[in-house]
Amino acid sequence: MSSDALSNLLHEERRFPPSDEFAAEAVATSELYDAAAEDRLGFWEDQARALHWETDWEQALDWQPPFAKWFVGGKLNVAVNCVDRHVDAGNGDRVALHWQGDPVDDKRTITYRDLQKLVNQTANALTELGVEAGDPVAVYMPMIPETIATLLACARIGAPHTVVFAGFSADALASRIRDADARVVVTADGQYRRGEAAPLKPNVDDAVAKCPDVRNVLVVRRTGSDVTWNEDRDLWWHEVVDRQPEEHEAQAFDSEHPLFILYTSGTTAKPKGILHTTGGYLTQVAYTHRNVFDLKPESDVYWCAADVGWVTGHSYIVYGPLANGATSVMYEGVPHPGDKDRWWKLIAEHKVSILYTAPTTIRTYMKWGPEPLQEHDLSSLRVLGSVGEPINPEAWMWYREHVGGDKTPIVDTWWQTETGAIMISPLPGVTATKPGSAMRPLPGISAEVVDEEGKPVPNGGGGYLVLTEPWPSMLRGIWGDDERYKETYWSRFEDMYFAGDGAKKDEDGDLWLLGRVDDVMNVSGHRISTTEVESALVSHPKVAEAAVVGANDPTTGQGIVAFVILRGSAAEGETLVKDLRDHVAKEIGPIAKPRQILVVAELPKTRSGKIMRRLLRDVAEHREVGDVTTLADPTVMNLIGEGLDKSKGDEG
Ligand code: WTA
Repeated sequence: MSSDALSNLLHEERRFPPSDEFAAEAVATSELYDAAAEDRLGFWEDQARALHWETDWEQALDWQPPFAKWFVGGKLNVAVNCVDRHVDAGNGDRVALHWQGDPVDDKRTITYRDLQKLVNQTANALTELGVEAGDPVAVYMPMIPETIATLLACARIGAPHTVVFAGFSADALASRIRDADARVVVTADGQYRRGEAAPLKPNVDDAVAKCPDVRNVLVVRRTGSDVTWNEDRDLWWHEVVDRQPEEHEAQAFDSEHPLFILYTSGTTAKPKGILHTTGGYLTQVAYTHRNVFDLKPESDVYWCAADVGWVTGHSYIVYGPLANGATSVMYEGVPHPGDKDRWWKLIAEHKVSILYTAPTTIRTYMKWGPEPLQEHDLSSLRVLGSVGEPINPEAWMWYREHVGGDKTPIVDTWWQTETGAIMISPLPGVTATKPGSAMRPLPGISAEVVDEEGKPVPNGGGGYLVLTEPWPSMLRGIWGDDERYKETYWSRFEDMYFAGDGAKKDEDGDLWLLGRVDDVMNVSGHRISTTEVESALVSHPKVAEAAVVGANDPTTGQGIVAFVILRGSAAEGETLVKDLRDHVAKEIGPIAKPRQILVVAELPKTRSGKIMRRLLRDVAEHREVGDVTTLADPTVMNLIGEGLDKSKGDEG
């Protein structure tokens, strides 16, 4: 058992009852559980009715396992739901985005009416570039309002977007553009990070050189840095979008029309294009955003500190909050040691009342100490959310005490790119929380913890997390690969969605997530596959073989540790480890750089040739190596131990 799991056990008994502040709606909110238990589909239909539908659906769910269609026959436009209907309801002057750039003086306030204009112009521009309903558009952009406008414009014209996190490499971008078959790419000249301008357009140039079908690259001027320009292909945003008409007639799309494809790492080297569609997705992101955060759109200021490049950004920066007419803070930068109180300044300045972030960020601030927070008035905060990885009870307590003034409920929200929206979480005002537990499936969601045979474990038992009924925002498949969809999620247990996470039910039946049980690592809340990093390493001319494991890391949750065997003639050389780390950054992106690389003579393999990662994890976590009796050659572990001693100085 990991040390986190152990400390979870010790904290199980601790409980924080809901505070009175939420009492007014607590009864109504808790009734959601009863309503969903009584009539699950009727419950989801009620949630769907919170949206504006052009045409009503005929059937709530058509379930041909494992393929689901929700709100069959219904038609709606996502952008109309996220923007126009708020303006039509008289809320055009409400702030949609308080945008803050990384440079302190870069700020913009964007109302729903401003956003409507921007989305309409962007939709008209994409149409001018020949983008039609069904044509995928690739998006490789910083955290700026134009990014949100691009996503909504795509949704408005029915063009599925595929956002690639702007920290991914040119190669990673190229493979996603090709897999999705996007013909138009939207990007910026660069972005600001930690006070510095960093280029983006050169990565797009390199990527597009490998994607002959891309006909246009639309470029926002963000940093003003020099860019190389291809006259036949490249267009400035300000030259194309700004001159467009501010009106755009939106068409309603089928509830199952593709909304976006988002690539995520699985257990193989090739990322999977997770497909989400329109009606069910928007229904569940809006419902969860409203209830999990107890949102009051008229008075709350909400800040989700993720990046639009990940699913958390899609669902809880863009679609959920905007569908609910919320006022959000959007911030271009990331926390860094040179600016430890920027976040808290932002919260005080905008009186942020709901904050949603990842445990890795909380642990980073824990490491820096509470002083930067204490200088700012954080009393506006009333709900705190956590997402992306298991939150250890110490971080949970610190979050509540130092950020939440010892009063604010914490919602630990479990979900995935594939689930599209939050699945397991406490509800503020209703659930008595336990530090480290995501508690219960939300009303309308059916989850279980099962054993190897797929049988539910009793309270107190541990096993695999599964989802036992389809849900509206579930992935509809893997782009272009139905077989892989079935194989990955629906073959491990019959008629159940296998999430890939281990979990435990405590004596009260509350859920504790224990991390991935497959070869997917979670580094700072980012999913990275061991196989993907291994194949990046072996693509380097000096590497013959590589094995990668995720080792516990006090700040990032897991850190990447790689074991490599060099090619016969390759010498280690002074810069080898740095070269290999840079090579991985080039192949995948800086987030996938191994924390440590060990050059070894052999890898521990079973007689059938399978690498025993468990033993490598023992080495990486500086533990005594476990049972080696199934190894083809048990002595290799001694050699690896020697390699470890030699390369102690290489931790990056
Ligand atoms: C992990 C991010 C524990 C989990 C929304 C899941 C969590 C993977 C939690 C999905 C949580 C996410 N507690 N683990 N509250 N939230 N995870 O697709 O392992 O980037 O399978 O989606 O993150 O990561 P993804």
